[in-house]
Amino acid sequence: MKTYLVTGGAGFIGSNFIHFLFEKYGDDIRILNADALTYAGNPENLRAVENRENYRFYKVDICDTEAVSEIFRENDVDCVVNFAAESHVDRSIDHPEIFVRTNVLGTAVMLNAARAAWEKEDGKYPEGKRFLHVSTDEVYGSLSGSDDYFYETTPYDPHSPYSASKASSDFLVKSYVDTYQFPGIITNCSNNYGPYQFPEKLIPLMINNALNGKSLPVYGDGKNVRDWLYVEDHAKGIDAVINGGRIGEKYNIGGHNERENVEIVHIILDTLRELLDENDPRRENVSDSLITYVTDRKGHDRRYAIAPDKIRSELGWEPETTFEEGIRKTIRWYLNNEEWLKNVTSGEYQKYYEKMYGAKKES
Ligand code: NAD
Ligand code: DAU
Repeated sequence: MKTYLVTGGAGFIGSNFIHFLFEKYGDDIRILNADALTYAGNPENLRAVENRENYRFYKVDICDTEAVSEIFRENDVDCVVNFAAESHVDRSIDHPEIFVRTNVLGTAVMLNAARAAWEKEDGKYPEGKRFLHVSTDEVYGSLSGSDDYFYETTPYDPHSPYSASKASSDFLVKSYVDTYQFPGIITNCSNNYGPYQFPEKLIPLMINNALNGKSLPVYGDGKNVRDWLYVEDHAKGIDAVINGGRIGEKYNIGGHNERENVEIVHIILDTLRELLDENDPRRENVSDSLITYVTDRKGHDRRYAIAPDKIRSELGWEPETTFEEGIRKTIRWYLNNEEWLKNVTSGEYQKYYEKMYGAKKES
């Protein structure tokens, strides 16, 4: 029975990944979830699996060497999937040091603990051990031409403290492969969207604000481009890389779905109008007039676009969910999970919102 150690499994992508693994493999696997439960980690995301016998939650900070090593001592871990990170660019501009701690030091602690548990006396590793480090397309920097793409060979050129910290963690993983023949693999994925995403990120923030008749803050001219992938397709990509990817390699994951931010906002408004019942009082709030152009993000990358050629040709992975389908599923999920949205936007979230958006000037 394969044992996965998923870090950051209570966050957006991690929890979707855990749901995906249980749907695909059922009782044939064990999942250990190590998460510090920061503001972004939410045990509610895992209510449906928390009582499974083949699931165990550890409230652990990945920077805590002793606690992480203890998990490896207690369990014969086959595969680490390292999601745990500070993940929001705007927060990294405010507090870079937190990103260095979790994303760089935390990854180093995970690598050390896995190596200590797995490396044999002859410097080799048992068959099948894998450390999959989940990274981002942001490490490649920003594209200008509309026909430029990020390939695995594109040099790293991070611009935000977030992407710089993720780039550093990628280099650490690579250094362990090169130095210790460590069984590491890196995936670099584009922007995800789907259920359980915290409403500090573009899509859930716009859904939540539109439902509440609050302004929709579009940074700069709204023409920055992101390459959107439905989160379940990301989970399938990671699964494909764990099972068929080559040690020491990087795999870009993305679905050629590049959109300007303002286009995304219009699609959300149109889809909300389509899905909300005529009699639903929230429908009245949904209006194009809520769109407000505000001061741009500092160092705002212009365009991201992934070339997923390698994962497609080597592993046969393709995105299965079109954007039209994915955004409907996502919006329907937020409409059906109003309680979840209310819970995560009460308390601390209000302070965050005021701090981040209160200072943003209309432009
Ligand atoms: P998220 O912010 O929703 O979740 C992060 C999770 O990590 C939370 O559960 C949080 O509690 C946990 N965490 C944070 N610090 C921790 C620590 N010190 N120790 C243990 N747990 C800690 O993030 P996400 O959007 O799900 O992203 C997951 C990973 O995927 C990140 O590594 C991110 O860089 C990468 N990624 C994200 C996207 C995206 O579009 N969201 C795209 C590509 C790659
Ligand atoms: O590309 C992958 C990355 O995608 C991941 O590595 C990050 O973890 C994830 O947060 C995401 O980063 P972005 O900065 O691209 O995502 P975000 O949702 O914050 O912003 C998407 C775009 O929308 C970006 O151009 C900024 C813009 N934006 C965002 C917010 C929150 C707005 O215009 N208004 C907003 O209020």
